[in-house]
Amino acid sequence: MEMALGPLDRNLALELLRVTEAAALAAAPLQGRGDPEELDQRAVDAMRSALSAVDMRGTVVIGEGEKDQAPMLYFGEQVGNGMEPEVDVAVDPIDGTRLTANGQPGAMAVVALADRGTMFTTHVPYMEKLVVGRRARGVIDIEMPVAWNLRRIAKAEGLNPHDLLVVILDRERNRKIIEQVREVGARVRLISDGDVAGAIMAALETKTGMHVLMGSGGATEAVIAACAVKAMGGDMQARLLIRDEHEREIARQEGHPEGQVLTIDDLCSGENIFFAATGITHGELLAGVRYEENYAFTHSLVLRSASGTMRFVEAYHESSKLRAKGLLPEQVMLGAVVRA
Ligand code: FBP
Repeated sequence: MEMALGPLDRNLALELLRVTEAAALAAAPLQGRGDPEELDQRAVDAMRSALSAVDMRGTVVIGEGEKDQAPMLYFGEQVGNGMEPEVDVAVDPIDGTRLTANGQPGAMAVVALADRGTMFTTHVPYMEKLVVGRRARGVIDIEMPVAWNLRRIAKAEGLNPHDLLVVILDRERNRKIIEQVREVGARVRLISDGDVAGAIMAALETKTGMHVLMGSGGATEAVIAACAVKAMGGDMQARLLIRDEHEREIARQEGHPEGQVLTIDDLCSGENIFFAATGITHGELLAGVRYEENYAFTHSLVLRSASGTMRFVEAYHESSKLRAKGLLPEQVMLGAVVRA
């Protein structure tokens, strides 16, 4: 499906950049305050308001949940200003709410767009994931043992399996995979949250030194990560993690066969993908929001699949203008705090 682009072959990701910047700027003042609900609400409000200005007819297919529990950015909500193109929208206003609430590294605001009807959707909460970068594209198989995959990935990367750095979400349910990776002798990077950033770092092949993401994490995060990984030319496979009869029934009603391997194209079949992420707390991928005299600083990643361009964008936002937009509460006294 050809997405209708404007006369300048619009890069919607650059417009999305303003959306993730707004969410990050709204969440950052509450870093470390231990209030995840308030944080989430602020980020969602800011993201939704910024999305309404984007030229698109968007449908949220990966969002904050069902309409009744999530008043904004719920599954099925229409976003954008109603103009062409028609797109699927995946949002995660804060990937790493807990990280932000605790002031820990690695939280970011994320949005992805793709041609309408091309993103995988499910209400099953978790997926098993396997993510690699461009060099290891086509060599992975999530149905094969961990050691088999790591040996093939290492070969494709021109490395010894011991040199690989594997990112895994630190969860009890991932214990077995962590042990299997250790048995191969590969290095492990356990993250406490934020596996969208983990997937991007694995697919990036530069900058972070990470090569693979393995283990299970959120299913919605898997679809968002797939958008980014596909735009970067990397590879990914996933499988729904069915933990009980209730989840088996959800998958059955959705028409997803149990155990089905989802390739990167199953997760996002679109060919026009736009992705933006902005750091909230400081992380290995993106710097967090920082306040300097008169400015708030943001660091973002912007991806567009059609060109394969990856842009890291540093932005300085004038504090008086942010304050006027309500993105900087009065209690954040830029500069004044430093001088006091
Ligand atoms: P949110 O901050 O959006 O809740 O997600 C954080 C996160 O760590 C994701 O990156 C990850 O996919 C998911 O939670 C894992 O879920 P759980 O903490 O239930 O294992």
